[in-house]
Amino acid sequence: MTASMTASTLAFRFAVIFVVTGMLMGIAMAASHDTSVMPAHAHLNLLGWVSLFLFGIYYERRPALDTSRLARLQVLIWALATAVLTVAVAAVHLGQDAADPVAAVTSLVVLGDVLLFGYLVYRGGPVREGQGRDGKGFAPAE
Ligand code: HEM
Repeated sequence: MTASMTASTLAFRFAVIFVVTGMLMGIAMAASHDTSVMPAHAHLNLLGWVSLFLFGIYYERRPALDTSRLARLQVLIWALATAVLTVAVAAVHLGQDAADPVAAVTSLVVLGDVLLFGYLVYRGGPVREGQGRDGKGFAPAE
């Protein structure tokens, strides 16, 4: 990952890593008939795959935001917090109560990070022009 990578590319790349991991986890749960870590699987897929992919789509539509350091930081924090939260939630469900504070703190990091995303959304910025197959922009909806 280079420093010049856009926020959307970063988000899509992390999302793919998370969904592959999440699916392997799901297959392992199904094969072993042991769903004790199901909440961790659900968080991994929904925070790591669905949310990150949605962030990526949003940033890709806004070129100024896509190259901003703050948007890249938002994606990076999300990816790291998702990884830590998933492990902590799995540990809690495997009876490791010591992981509870880790899950609690990380959940607040995720909350803070979604507020950062909200700030970027409300701050606004120009939306990328759509491109038709003929190379001309789409006409705005009437
Ligand atoms: C190879 C792909 C996947 C496999 C094999 C798999 C497998 C499983 C299994 C075995 C469970 C436990 C079901 C139960 O005991 O009730 C589960 C739960 C769950 N999975 Fe997956 N999963 C996969 C992909 C995904 C993806 C891509 C998402 C989200 C985008 C997802 C979201 C969830 C959620 C939210 C639950 C909890 C459902 C509940 O609370 O009843 N899974 N999955």
